[in-house]
Amino acid sequence: MALSYPIFLVGFMGCGKSKLAKRLSSRFNVPHLDLDNIIEDELGTSIRAFVDSHGEEAFRKVERKLLLESFKDFKGIIALGGGAPCYQDNMQEILKLGSSVYLKYPAKTLVQRLAGGKAKRPLIASIPDDELQGWIEAKLKERASYYEQATVTFDFEKDRDAYSFMFAQLA
Ligand code: S3P
Repeated sequence: MALSYPIFLVGFMGCGKSKLAKRLSSRFNVPHLDLDNIIEDELGTSIRAFVDSHGEEAFRKVERKLLLESFKDFKGIIALGGGAPCYQDNMQEILKLGSSVYLKYPAKTLVQRLAGGKAKRPLIASIPDDELQGWIEAKLKERASYYEQATVTFDFEKDRDAYSFMFAQLA
């Protein structure tokens, strides 16, 4: 299968963007990229280490620069970091570059999915487990208006077969 434009996967941390990008890529034989990996290659260190020493604002600048530069001629599936669509006019740029899919999960499911994945994510690494759901609920509220601009939304609470549906649509 050949894509004529990039497809961006957007959504909160833990919603499965990176894993899905890989699965779609091997199922449909299209290339895939992960913005977080591109950032880490450019920085020469992990996102966690960079944010811990330079702060989130500095990370957002690098993230935006690489988002704007990396996908202009790329015709494949791209997993974006959870915050990427939500800063400056990044979501507008994403919509100009290609098509996008929001992988939507409720906060309580994201908490479960993030169990064991906190340490590499600087924004949640030091949030105690019993405060995580509240933090995610607030952050989701802040970010929802960006995610919801995506071309397509798959709501995994309403539709447990969303993945099969997506694969069928793309087949
Ligand atoms: C972030 C999500 C992370 C990564 C960074 C910030 C966020 O990516 O870009 O830690 O602000 O939601 P994942 O969504 O792949 O965890």
